[in-house]
Amino acid sequence: MEIIIHPNAEDAAEMAERIITNLIVTNPQAVLGLATGSTPLRLYQRLAAKGLDWSGITSFNLDEYLGIGAQHPQSYSAFMQENLFRHVNIGVKNIHLPDGMAVDPETHCQAYEEKIHAAGGIDLQLLGIGTDGHIGFNEPSSSLSSRTRIKTLTARTRRDNARFFGSEREVPYHVITMGIGTILESRTVLLLATGENKAEAVAGAVEGALTSMNPASALQLHRKAILCLDEAAASKLQRRDYYHWVFDNKPAWQRISPN
Ligand code: F6R
Repeated sequence: MEIIIHPNAEDAAEMAERIITNLIVTNPQAVLGLATGSTPLRLYQRLAAKGLDWSGITSFNLDEYLGIGAQHPQSYSAFMQENLFRHVNIGVKNIHLPDGMAVDPETHCQAYEEKIHAAGGIDLQLLGIGTDGHIGFNEPSSSLSSRTRIKTLTARTRRDNARFFGSEREVPYHVITMGIGTILESRTVLLLATGENKAEAVAGAVEGALTSMNPASALQLHRKAILCLDEAAASKLQRRDYYHWVFDNKPAWQRISPN
């Protein structure tokens, strides 16, 4: 794992933006895995302002609420339109999200996996992290080899996400999410985490045991997992000094070229 700690959330977003920009510029046909939620908002604003050519880019989002259609204002489809897609020239046919209104969700999940495969796999998967360590909506106790499927949200995640809805009652109980196994197959994983409320989950994921009780700890198995953190999200890491040291002493050839 590469742990990059930034003084604040804006700097963490800037680093994530540089990594994604670098990918889009060097591989204009790249396949991106995207996330929703509060964490990537700064990153999406920065990417939208960048004026990159997204015409060859394909995207697959991590998850969607079950029982909510793409037109619903709280759907992840609407979130992506509002915060990224309408600001860039990505082709409509290249955008993929699970369909929360799928008539046969199980077949739909299987088809989603097949589409990822047919696109050549995901080059870079962007992740946030839940306060309970979830990635995508793989809640604690999710199989570390899981594939895209229906999951039930925990009471904690429903509470955490109530801020996007009128009230907690309106937050769906079920979602379609890529599995941990699906996420681990991405060629690069980029996890962005900011804020004190993520510190415990981040510490467990990086320095705790590999366990389905902290789904993000599965990233310990990934060959190229980059974690962009702000100081608050990194505050419970024991080896913080070492991660700073590694970054400060990075050989030039390993650095991401600014675009
Ligand atoms: C969203 C997703 C979730 C979020 C996580 C953190 O597509 O898959 O794992 O990344 O719940 O959400 P925020 O960023 O709102 O704290």
